[in-house]
Amino acid sequence: MAPKIFLTRRLPEPAMRLLSAHCEVDLWDDAERPAPREALLRGAAGAAGLLTLLTDRVDAELLDAAPDLKVVANMAVGYDNIDVPACSARGVVVTNTPGVLTETTADLAWALMLAAARRIVEGQKLIEAGGWGPWHPMQMVGVDVYGASLGVVGAGRIGAAVLRRASGFGMELRYHNRNASPELEAATGALYRSLDELLVECQFVVVTLPLTPETRGLFGAREFGLMRDDAVFVNVARGPIVREAELVESLRAGRPRAAGIDVFEREPIGPDHPLLALPNCVAVPHIGSASVATRTRMATLAAENLVAVLAGRPPLTPVHAVG
Ligand code: DGY
Repeated sequence: MAPKIFLTRRLPEPAMRLLSAHCEVDLWDDAERPAPREALLRGAAGAAGLLTLLTDRVDAELLDAAPDLKVVANMAVGYDNIDVPACSARGVVVTNTPGVLTETTADLAWALMLAAARRIVEGQKLIEAGGWGPWHPMQMVGVDVYGASLGVVGAGRIGAAVLRRASGFGMELRYHNRNASPELEAATGALYRSLDELLVECQFVVVTLPLTPETRGLFGAREFGLMRDDAVFVNVARGPIVREAELVESLRAGRPRAAGIDVFEREPIGPDHPLLALPNCVAVPHIGSASVATRTRMATLAAENLVAVLAGRPPLTPVHAVG
């Protein structure tokens, strides 16, 4: 008999085909709205596999409601929505989707760097508001990206891909991570710095860390206060790494000078969010991995992980030691 699985969202076709070929699929059939908690608990009960998104909380309550569960396949590289120790304690395998979204997310980090530094969104809004007067020397001046210093906080795959892209921009590269990485240094020429040193030195600061108890609230008024007054701050990681109210105040005070933000403390944000009122902040709705090809690869990898575990094979990309 095919194992029963619950999907918390309809996925791109290749993933749906793979899952339907191996499993009895039940799903929350709304591509845009997350399954409400009761629907998730109901779907998980009796399921051997769960395919989740970052909006689905997998905790002890859910695991208790799902005694047959063997695998939670998260369609994201981040898995802060999942209580991994609670899964391990019950022998439930957790998988994520590393690797397949690296380049797409690094592209977005660069889009935000460039847009914030060169005031792209502010410029468009100026035109839309009918405020574009005659050309003048200091109209809409921003800061240069070429030749600037770039510091990446978090030296995983995405951080490395952000640094690699700098080679055409003649930048000085720095990185901060829990541990120094000789491989990253050899591949990119980036130099290791403590977090404070990096913040003091670098004009562009890009956050690519996972959200963990150690990184929650890592950036606040003190850290923004260390930055240069021409700094551009970019977060493509997780919103709660930044104390958002303190970012708002710091941007109002002009240090950092500008920011590009893909992720927020509480998502989704509405049009009245204070960051949107700041001309020096470019905000986008958590779209780091949002290309057709990448989202399809993420869904397919999550499906492959789920099918592998239910067939008794090792998962392709587990987030913890299993067995
Ligand atoms: C992730 O994968 O963790 C992103 O935030 C969504 O792509």
